[in-house]
Amino acid sequence: MIAIASYTDADFAGVERLWGQAFADDAPRNTAALAIPQKLAYQPELFLVASDHGAVVGSLMAGYDGHRGWISRVAVSVSHRRQGVARAMIVEIERRLAALGCPKVNLQVNTANAVVVPFYQRLGYAVEPRISMGKLLAG
Ligand SMILES: CC(C)(COP(=O)(O)OP(=O)(O)OC[C@H]1O[C@@H](n2cnc3c(N)ncnc32)[C@H](O)[C@@H]1OP(=O)(O)O)[C@@H](O)C(=O)NCCC(=O)NCCS
Repeated sequence: MIAIASYTDADFAGVERLWGQAFADDAPRNTAALAIPQKLAYQPELFLVASDHGAVVGSLMAGYDGHRGWISRVAVSVSHRRQGVARAMIVEIERRLAALGCPKVNLQVNTANAVVVPFYQRLGYAVEPRISMGKLLAG
């Protein structure tokens, strides 16, 4: 049975393994050792883990900046894909964001990973005419 819950320290190794599988070409700044403590400092309740009998099989991070909610790091183990695990995490994070008053949720898909666009569309997300920009801050 799949359980969706907030991340706990006991999930670290499982999430690290999952990210290694799901985000193989990740930038060093996104490693679990860096990104998880940073996330736990801000809205830790918006970091979800999906577990199957205690084993981590999915994860999702989100944040609410007071204007928009942002979803990132959506990942499901290869062994558990196409079984509704990601859908369950998205439904739960949307519930939590809505409870905070968040009116709209955004997310970004790397153009090299456009294969997941139909997945998000199945969950009600639309491709919007935006140019995504970013800047690394020193520190
Ligand atoms: C994308 C990913 C999170 C989907 O997880 P999942 O648990 O298999 O998704 P679900 O089973 O909850 O699927 C939800 C819906 O999307 C559909 N779907 C899932 N993956 C899909 C795909 N690659 N293409 C088209 N539709 C897809 C499912 O059929 C389902 O539709 P339905 O409920 O109407 O039948 C998973 O494939 C993954 O971890 N990929 C690698 C990491 C990644 O790319 N993350 C996204 C970063 S932006």
